[in-house]
Amino acid sequence: MDWKVHKLKEGIYMITMADKETRFFEALWEIPEGIQYNAYLLFTNDGSILFDTGPKGSRGFMEALSSVTDPKDVKALIVHHMEPDHSGYIRELLEVNPEIRVISHPISFRLMNSFYGITPSSKTEISDGMSMEVGGERLRFFLTPWLHWPETFVTFIEGVNALTTGDIFGAYSINGDFLKSSAGLSDQFYLWSMKKYFVNVIGAYRTHVVNAINKIKRLGIYPELILPAHGIAFYGKDSLEKLLSIYENWASCSEKNEVVIVLTSMYGFTEEIAREVSAFLEEVSIKHRIFKFTSKGRDEFSEAIAAMQDAQGIIMISSTYENSPHPIIEYLADLMEKKLCKGKKLLLIGTYAWGSGSLATLSNRLTKAGFSISKIIPVNSMMTKSDRDNIREALREMFELTRS
Ligand code: FEO
Repeated sequence: MDWKVHKLKEGIYMITMADKETRFFEALWEIPEGIQYNAYLLFTNDGSILFDTGPKGSRGFMEALSSVTDPKDVKALIVHHMEPDHSGYIRELLEVNPEIRVISHPISFRLMNSFYGITPSSKTEISDGMSMEVGGERLRFFLTPWLHWPETFVTFIEGVNALTTGDIFGAYSINGDFLKSSAGLSDQFYLWSMKKYFVNVIGAYRTHVVNAINKIKRLGIYPELILPAHGIAFYGKDSLEKLLSIYENWASCSEKNEVVIVLTSMYGFTEEIAREVSAFLEEVSIKHRIFKFTSKGRDEFSEAIAAMQDAQGIIMISSTYENSPHPIIEYLADLMEKKLCKGKKLLLIGTYAWGSGSLATLSNRLTKAGFSISKIIPVNSMMTKSDRDNIREALREMFELTRS
């Protein structure tokens, strides 16, 4: 694990850990690009304030912290939420310095006991809009429930004009840069890393994202520093506005980008269908990405579901498996139900061989979840000319294309 301490400006430091070892974030999402965890340290007239810690199961946080301050000089610890990727060192910290005043949501104190068997001797429960002075520094707390757990809040540090945001505005990937100006938000790879993190981790709570955006907007603050718990920190008074606007777009699914084709294939029949779909979309100049889950290999669920976020349409091509859609297609449908905006247009194509077709159950399920099924097309196995014509016609209807 690679810990670093960076000075952000006079009196405030960022403690980062680059995690290149976790293969499946949340035991689910493939992250070959890695992930970074951030804690922050603010020096005050009377000791320092630590904002979050590091991930449970890692090593090295206390050493990184000690390189910039004596842990015995930490006067307060703000715990923004209790997920163990940020709360993993509370116990160790309190063992070294039991006098630390722990400031967090009431739910967090219950979980501290449940996760780590600890009850801080000095604790302060925050509430929405609460303001307090710690070591001469004014802190203001604002609840942002379900971003990404119910107890989550953000902290505005008035003196240094900074906003710590927890998982909000976090991203996957490990970057050489730890702090960028808001202009860094035009970096397409970083934006993709942010979007992927947003859809994978926060996508299920997009209604709460909208509530949080509106709430933060109403605060009328213009922090010079935005300090998320993952990824890069941003500086510049327009950073918050830009980040909120990005989140607003994603939460509302207002973008309409590349079509996504997902397929499962055991013996190649559905791959042939996908090639036909892809060829048609090429002919009509519709950009698309294909995600394959086949006997030869698998693309990443984390990428597929993130690409679906802003897709103008999704084409699901499934082989039949024990008279049901292939389990991987059902798994993707499950993720889509949980993570995506509803109302998206879907085209379902499925091969059925010995069976009688399995698309009706998939279609019913996805319709019930709020998606718009433009058509379902069963294909026995190898595409016939008639199947090909049906697929092309269905694509024309789906994307409202006229025959040329
Ligand atoms: Fe990065 Fe919800 O923890």
